[in-house]
Amino acid sequence: MQPTAVQLIIEEHRAIATVLHALQEAVEHARHGVAAPDFARLRAMLVYLDEMPARVHHASEGRLLFPLIRERCPALRPVLDRLEGEHERVELIVRELGHALSAWQVMGEVRHEAFELLARTYIESYLGHMKVEEDYVLPVAMDYLDAADWHQLAAAFEHQRGVLADSALRNQRELYARIVTKPSAD
Ligand SMILES: [Fe+2]
Ligand SMILES: [Fe+2]
Repeated sequence: MQPTAVQLIIEEHRAIATVLHALQEAVEHARHGVAAPDFARLRAMLVYLDEMPARVHHASEGRLLFPLIRERCPALRPVLDRLEGEHERVELIVRELGHALSAWQVMGEVRHEAFELLARTYIESYLGHMKVEEDYVLPVAMDYLDAADWHQLAAAFEHQRGVLADSALRNQRELYARIVTKPSAD
């Protein structure tokens, strides 16, 4: 059975990937004129992708999981450095995307392509980032960390989520539900 911390990381990857795919689908639909862009839903996706990873997911990896892997498996340090650099980069890009979305909404079609190009780069790099973590980092961590490490991490993850106000986590879950619920045709 997978350690609790690994299960949590993978569950969060699934949620992030679901929103990334929803964003990709919305971008495709707008490009092919299948539907008029739903700016409110696009904005909800960007708020989720801005807040959830930065406050919860990247914090769990960068402050708790990665430091322990660095200690137990020094050979992985260059990969972890790269992944931490990517955390900062995707957090910056998602904010740029927020601006690009506003520009598209306010200035119209002339700014559509800039949003689309940035969104594609963002989606691709974030999916690639999670794949490296799942295919490479987590399996190596499971080889090198022992039961006491995983126990310590499970408690630390739980504590980290506990210090986030319940309302913040509830808001993120509500936002996620709003995004993944198909909009009604109106
Ligand atoms: Fe990560
Ligand atoms: Fe991750």
